[in-house]
Amino acid sequence: MAKSTPKNTLNSSFSDASHQDQQHVWHHLSQHKAYEKKPAMMIISGQGMRVKDSLGNEFLDAVSGAVWTVNVGYGRERIAKAIYQQTLKMNYFAGAIGNEPGALFAKMLTDIMPGLERVYYSNSGSEANEKAFKLVRQLAQQNSQKDSHKPHGKYKILYRDRDYHGTTITTLSASGHQQRKAQYGPYTPGFAEVPHCCCYRCPFNKTYGNCEIECAKAVEQIILEEGPESIGSLILEPITAGGGVIVPPEEYLPIVAEICQRYDVLLHLDEVVCGMGRTGTWFGYQHYDISPDIVTLAKGIASGYAPISCTVTTEALFDKFKQHPEDPLGFFRDISTFGGCTAGPAAAIENMNIINEENLLNNVVSVGKYGLQKLKALMEKHNIIGDVRGKGLFLGIELVRDRITKEPMDEAILANITSDCLQQGVIIGKTNRSFAGMNNVLLLAPALIATRDDIDEIISAIDNALAKIRV
Ligand SMILES: Cc1ncc(COP(=O)(O)O)c(C=O)c1O
Repeated sequence: MAKSTPKNTLNSSFSDASHQDQQHVWHHLSQHKAYEKKPAMMIISGQGMRVKDSLGNEFLDAVSGAVWTVNVGYGRERIAKAIYQQTLKMNYFAGAIGNEPGALFAKMLTDIMPGLERVYYSNSGSEANEKAFKLVRQLAQQNSQKDSHKPHGKYKILYRDRDYHGTTITTLSASGHQQRKAQYGPYTPGFAEVPHCCCYRCPFNKTYGNCEIECAKAVEQIILEEGPESIGSLILEPITAGGGVIVPPEEYLPIVAEICQRYDVLLHLDEVVCGMGRTGTWFGYQHYDISPDIVTLAKGIASGYAPISCTVTTEALFDKFKQHPEDPLGFFRDISTFGGCTAGPAAAIENMNIINEENLLNNVVSVGKYGLQKLKALMEKHNIIGDVRGKGLFLGIELVRDRITKEPMDEAILANITSDCLQQGVIIGKTNRSFAGMNNVLLLAPALIATRDDIDEIISAIDNALAKIRV
């Protein structure tokens, strides 16, 4: 039977939209059995740090759109206007051709990333990382014999345990989240894992201060085992996000960067979460004295007002793709249809202007410090907090059954805590089915405009929720 003519759903009532959602939308990361009886929550408006659902409930959003994206907060008229004006003038032309906001934003971006010069546009963090992997693979082929069908040259890519780089098969191949990967193999060959640098759960059972930063030196060990002639790049999150907000020890990244340089391995930093002010500097890596070869960005670049991602490289890397003009395939033969949309860079320009004009990096530093101190104080009260950590407005609370043994708290209990906070009007996050038996970190990443009062409200909700937990 033919379906009836669709209605103008934007003018429909919320209950109508909720019904259509229940009937037709397949939500991300969701077991839909639960929605057969009770429709999923629908967020329908937002202003500043707060959002409203279709039932009229208001929430303080402590995770910037659930996945640390809305860095400058909701309801930014000037971003919406910039998108409107730009798309009315010129909405799209394929990215082989230039466009005004794309050019202007590339200049603004590289101005705050000394040493990096070129911006390649696409649409998501996964895609930005995938582009970087393609650059590495193409260089490996370019620099070695082309007559072999076997992998050759510096084609391998190292990634870390507990880091996440995206949802496609290849970016999952480069991710250290075993539960996320469990159902989607086989994976792309040519990726090798290196240990992480989580001091609270040191992979080498050492203690910071007496460890000689073995986790960083392990990178060299793996390069030697795999063969330095085969390693093209190392990808890592400067501060790990979905893996549980892991801040590396101060020495870690400079040692890793030096090892990469010594073995001619490109250093690729995934700033999809840390980028655009989240940690109090423009980029997470800028807390450390290092110079990456590739940086990937998404999420906060345009705060979710329009999709956009960037793969940013040095001019030296870019130049390698001009060395063989005689070769019909001697350039980066890649495209992303929507990488040519102008809405993304138009929004990104205003997003960056807002961060600058409202001095949000300073706000992140001071409010973030306040948040970390308050969380440390909360540890005194609740034995189930094993560790609190973070930088800027990027904070994690690791819950354990026992502080001495560090036995991780069950994921179901974390789910109870997040839903208790929701009942209290605060949206917080948690590590989500990424590591079997180890999804025990509560996550906070409020918008960069958060105030101390917002932090008080968030932490008070967590305090109340933790007080109800019995183990
Ligand atoms: C560090 C990191 N890299 C990449 C991605 C993938 O980004 P996207 O979901 O936009 O593809 C994510 C997503 O959460 C992420 O946290």
